[in-house]
Amino acid sequence: MNLSNQEIFLASLLFIISSFFILIPPCDYLGFSQERKTGGKLMFLTDTKNALQRAAAYQNNSQVVSEQSPITELSTSEPRDVCTTKALRGTNYTIIYNAMPKTGSRTLSTISLQLFKKRFKSNTRFHTIAITPKISELRRNSTKLLEYYRQTSQKTAFIRGHNAFVHPADRSYICINTIREPIPWMTSQYYFRTNGDSRGREHSKNKTTSDLTFDECFSRGLLSCKPQIGNYLAYFCGDDPICNTPGALKRSKANVDKFLFVGLNEEFKDTIRILELLIPDIFKGLTKDYEKKFSELKRSFTTISKKKLSEKTEETLRRDPNVRVMYEFYEFVKDRFHRLKKCLLQD
Ligand SMILES: *[C@@H]1O[C@H](CO)[C@@H](O)[C@H](O)[C@H]1NC(C)=O
Ligand SMILES: *[C@@H]1O[C@H](CO)[C@@H](O)[C@H](O)[C@H]1NC(C)=O
Ligand SMILES: *[C@@H]1O[C@H](CO)[C@@H](O)[C@H](O)[C@H]1NC(C)=O
Ligand SMILES: *[C@@H]1O[C@H](CO)[C@@H](O)[C@H](O)[C@H]1NC(C)=O
Repeated sequence: MNLSNQEIFLASLLFIISSFFILIPPCDYLGFSQERKTGGKLMFLTDTKNALQRAAAYQNNSQVVSEQSPITELSTSEPRDVCTTKALRGTNYTIIYNAMPKTGSRTLSTISLQLFKKRFKSNTRFHTIAITPKISELRRNSTKLLEYYRQTSQKTAFIRGHNAFVHPADRSYICINTIREPIPWMTSQYYFRTNGDSRGREHSKNKTTSDLTFDECFSRGLLSCKPQIGNYLAYFCGDDPICNTPGALKRSKANVDKFLFVGLNEEFKDTIRILELLIPDIFKGLTKDYEKKFSELKRSFTTISKKKLSEKTEETLRRDPNVRVMYEFYEFVKDRFHRLKKCLLQD
């Protein structure tokens, strides 16, 4: 085997970084300590050499850990410190990606699927499944979604759908998501609906607005370009009626801790790198695949004929109370992302 210096360097770096992790169940700081202590369903790390190193590193950070209970007790009332997010070992999980649309979710799903095909040939759970727009009723009903996740997870390791947030109270689920800055998100969403992308207009349904720019639509006060809290926050707040009101902000912020990780569309490569670090036994090689496929994916998934917003529309949007709620949430998530990135990817 001929390893270049760079590869050796990267491998050591990865080793050092990964030695700072130890497994912790995801989404579980809220009220599952009982279940956690009795073992649960997650596979635990057996690589003792690494585990000892990790334990030493943790103790240096004055956190007491042991192989079987590597969890720092977290109070339900305080937000989780993102730097306590630990890598999950093993592959016996179902990843729920209740993807906010237009944040790179098709890219992430496509490279994940390709990776699974390569790495888990004989394991039929490793494919991705998307909840299609046909079942839109399901996507907005948390009771139905929970049932759907329960059934689907038997045979699928990666479920993607533009679904309202819901948190299955079972530690074998990992919730992830991605987010994007509100105003670019709104316009992207709008043009995607009206123009589609290079893969055609299969997703673009609304003929009424198809000839209007976002500016024109907005100045006419049409519904399809009106900022609505629920459109943005449903993926973090859920299906409760409160999720379409300013009350959605507080609830969504509290829910962020139930995701293992929320990535940023604007920093997609780092999002991929962090995902690979946090779930290494499932996503090993994801970053490399992403880099290889980047241009091709970008070509197929970029919305066509996006028009730049006028300054006037942008200013009006920024003053809109609903848009301000969205920005407050976005900044909250972005700040956490940056803190996590600093802890994990120090380069
Ligand atoms: C922990 O700290 C000691 C003393 O500072 C150091 O010698 C040791 O290498 C550290 N271990 C790890 C895993 O960071
Ligand atoms: C994986 O988890 C499921 C339920 O979460 C369990 O029934 C199954 O036995 C586990 N498989 C392995 C190989 O641990
Ligand atoms: C969600 O689905 C459940 C179960 O099918 C149903 O009882 C409930 O009425 C639905 N909720 C809404 C708001 O449609
Ligand atoms: C299409 O856009 C019009 C105008 O904004 C709106 O009234 C209508 O509900 C939209 N239809 C769909 C299917 O989204």
